Order: sequence, then structure tokens, then C-alpha cells
Amino acid sequence: MKAPSPALLQQFAVIVGPQNAVTGAAELEPYLVEPRGLYHGSTPVVLRPGNTAEVSAILKLAQANGIAVVPQGGNTGMVGGQIPDASGAEIIVNLGRMNRIRKLDAESNTVTVEAGVILQTLQEAADAADRLFPLSLSAEGSAQIGGNIATNAGGTAVLAYGNTRDLVLGLEVVLANGEVWDGLRTLRKDNTGYDLKHLFIGAEGTLGIITGAVLKLFPKPKGRSVAFAGLASPHQALRLFGIARSIGGPNVTACELMSATSVGFLYRNAPQFRDPLAGKHAWYLLLEISSSRSEEEARALIEEIFVKAFEDGVAEDAVLAESLQQSKDLWHIRHALSDIQKAEGGSIKHDISVPVASMPAFLEEATALVEKMVPGCRPAAFGHMGDGNIHFNISQPVGADKQAYLARWDEMNDAVHAIASRMGGSISAEHGIGALKRHALPHVKSGVEMGLMRSIKGAFDPAGILNPGKVL
Ligand code: FAD
Ligand code: MLT
Ligand code: ZN
Repeated sequence: MKAPSPALLQQFAVIVGPQNAVTGAAELEPYLVEPRGLYHGSTPVVLRPGNTAEVSAILKLAQANGIAVVPQGGNTGMVGGQIPDASGAEIIVNLGRMNRIRKLDAESNTVTVEAGVILQTLQEAADAADRLFPLSLSAEGSAQIGGNIATNAGGTAVLAYGNTRDLVLGLEVVLANGEVWDGLRTLRKDNTGYDLKHLFIGAEGTLGIITGAVLKLFPKPKGRSVAFAGLASPHQALRLFGIARSIGGPNVTACELMSATSVGFLYRNAPQFRDPLAGKHAWYLLLEISSSRSEEEARALIEEIFVKAFEDGVAEDAVLAESLQQSKDLWHIRHALSDIQKAEGGSIKHDISVPVASMPAFLEEATALVEKMVPGCRPAAFGHMGDGNIHFNISQPVGADKQAYLARWDEMNDAVHAIASRMGGSISAEHGIGALKRHALPHVKSGVEMGLMRSIKGAFDPAGILNPGKVL
């Protein structure tokens, strides 16, 4: 793609107003780096539109001049999808200013938002209306709804409420040619032609820019109980999950697995976090039970689960939160695991999923393999056990050269992904493909699937201006 001329940059700036066109090197920097430090992009401008009409005018101008556009929300994406390449030709459209909650309809259990609404803001607005917007991830303080939809984000509540895809009723999208598709319907049932919203959900900004969404709300649980258990193995964790599901059924709203190494990084590097259990265990499980009836019911269910777990010798120890603050403290341990890995040097990341019952076998085989590939490396696995989704993140050997270790990223990914694929799993459970896994996609998708995706891309973005080099 060619870079926009100064005259064209001026035309883009006029659309959003010069104060919303970021061009200074220092001001641009935060938009050009991402949480893992794997990508550092370059751009002549970040445009911050205030409404859908401005996004439409930007894309119309971009398409007419063959200018590449990278949509960006909270910039918390894990696969480089929101970062422009190093050419300096791609412009960023950041949706952060479009952050209005347009309408919350508690009776219909729907909320209509603009793409730039921060996930935590929406969670709080739902809570204030005695409702629940269940999507929850450690980056919820920065991630925006548009980015959550574009990546079909998963997080810790998928077990009971599904991925972002399951939470979307309608979308407003600006297409590559600037046309606006108003699909902001609040209907639960509407069988009139292709369900177009599903093409944009998870498309990572390659088919259109999401500017608005209608999302589902849920009744706010009357009670929640959280436990933090110490276990001997992933196999025991799987058994505990089975006991929880057999007793708690749909009331099991989260089940997060953590290795001793992953929580050990936290206690070592962030002493404000304290191990809630007296002894040491090889694995830990955070279990959350919700009740639509009462705190008492949630508590009774989680106690029944652990009576059975101890009877069956599945759990070695457990603590049940006695207050909302204690629940938050236990969740805070889980939510801190991702970022703290930076403190331990280079970390080669994975976001795999396998059938839930295959997790112990995956962890055993993949751990043995990577320890053979890089003696002294430190598997610090954690993740969404209930969804079969493990972040099999491997920290460098202590004292190793970080860059030399990270240079083995693809080799290690390929080996670990091969195990997941052989078990019928996915190489990207929730983070998407972006730039990071683009080369791997054709190895896990059939020629028919790649052909269909390229046909859709060609139909929606014939000039290839939307987030080039990502996904396909
Ligand atoms: P960005 O990073 O800005 O963009 C992500 C992608 O979406 C890019 O391809 C971008 O081009 C596209 N995009 C952004 N906005 C739009 C739009 N309006 N229209 C079209 N395309 C758009 N993810 C999970 O799924 N589960 C987790 O548990 C999880 N935990 C995380 C923990 C941490 C500490 C961090 C840093 C990240 C985590 N993530 C997780 C990844 C990330 O938070 C999600 O992918 C999130 O949905 C990205 O939202 P964002 O607004 O930051 O998007
Ligand atoms: C999380 O679940 O915290 C993230 O998706 C994992 C990661 O940072 O690798
Ligand atoms: Zn995750």
C-alpha cells in the first residue's frame, strides 16, 4: 500500500477535526506498541473519530486513494492485529472516542453501545441496572467492546455465557467503501437471510469497522461463591470440575486452572499477593458458583462440591471466600497471571484449546516436549479449564538470553500446536490470528476453508485496505 500524501493526511484530519488526528511521534507511540512487545508499528496518523459518519467518511476517502486502515480499540490484543506494519503507510482508526452507551433496556435485557465503550464500563452500567453483562477478561479495564467483538473474545465466563459471539444481537458496521450497515436489531429471533453479523464477529477488523453493537444482558446472580483449591494434578482438576458440574450444573460460572509455576511468579514478583492456602500444591483451581436465588444457595452448593471432592480425595486443600472482598482477592490472583509473566523474562505464549477431557494429556505431553526442546525452560500454564483453553506460556530458563530464547517462538509454537491439533484442538482458542498466527492458519484450515475466507474478504474488501496482513 502507498503512504498517504500530506494533502491526503490533511483531508483525513478535517474529517475528525485536527485535535483528533494524532501525528506527533511521542503521542503516536502508545498506539504503535502492544501488550506483549512483539510488534512495533509505524503510522503517519491515528484518527480518532467521534461518530459513525466520520468513520464512513474516513473509509470512503481511504478506499478512493488505496490507503490501508488498521482499526484499533483498547490495544490489548494478543496477536498484533491492532498494530500497523513498519512501512509507515497504514493509518490507524482508533474507536476510543465513540464510547457512548446509547440505550440500556433492562426489560428486554439488551444494551446498545458504541464500539469504544470500555468493557468494564459496560459491566458496571449493567450492574447498576441490576443486570449482568458477563464478558470478563483480565484486560477488561482497557479492552473496548468493538475489539471484544472483532476478536470474539472469550475470557473467564465462557463456561456459562459463551464467547462474545454468543452475546451479540446486532451490529453497526462501516464497510470498506464507507457504506454503513445498520444491523442494530434487538431481536432474539430473526431468520431473514444470511446472519451477516457473524461474519464481522471475530474478523479482527479485516471485513469492516464495527461502530456499534446490541448486546445481551442477563439477570444479575443473587449470590456468588468462590473457592481456591490446591490439587495434585490436572487430572484431579478435571475430576473436581466434573464434581462441580454434576452438583452445580449451570450454576458453575467459572473454572480457572493455574500451575504452581504461574502463581509462583506472582508471589515472587508481586508480594502484595499472598498464597491463600497454607501448603504448596502442584496445581490450583479457582471455582465460581453463582445462584439466581441467594448467597446461601451458592454457598451451600460450593460446600457440597468440596465435601464430595475431599471424600473422593480429589482436592488437597481449599479456601472458600467468606466475603465479596475475599472473592475479589482470589479473582485478582487469577487476573494478574498474564501480565506478571513479563517479570520472568521471555515468555513463548500459546492459546490452545483441546477437548476438556484431553487437557491433562495435552499438559503432560507438551510439558515433556518443551522441556526437551529447551532444557530449563519454565512452563507457566494457566487458563480457562472449563473451556478446554490453556495458555501454555513457557518462560525462558533463568539467566538465558531473552532474545535468543524468543527467537525459538515459531519452532516451539509449531511443536505445541502439533500436539493440540493431533488432539482435535485449536491453535487459537480466543486471541485470534492477527499477524502472529497468520502463517500458521493455512496449516490448520483446509483449502476449501481458506478459499471461502478469501472469497468473503474479496467481496467485502476488494481493494484490500482493511487491516492488510492480518488473519489471511
Ligand atoms: P484491540 O487490541 O485494539 O484490537 C484487537 C483486534 O480487533 C485488531 O485486529 C483490531 O484491528 C480489531 N478491532 C478493534 N476494534 C475494532 C472495531 N471497532 N472494528 C473492527 N475491528 C476492530 N482475550 C480473550 O479472549 N480472553 C482473555 O482471557 C484475555 N485475557 C487477556 C489478558 C490480558 C492481560 C491482556 C493484555 C489481553 C487479554 N486478552 C484476552 C486479549 C484482548 O484483551 C482481547 O483480544 C480483546 O478483545 C481486545 O480488545 P481491544 O479493544 O483491546 O482490541
Ligand atoms: C488470560 O486468560 O489471562 C490471557 O488470555 C492469557 C495470556 O495472557 O496469555
Ligand atoms: Zn485467556
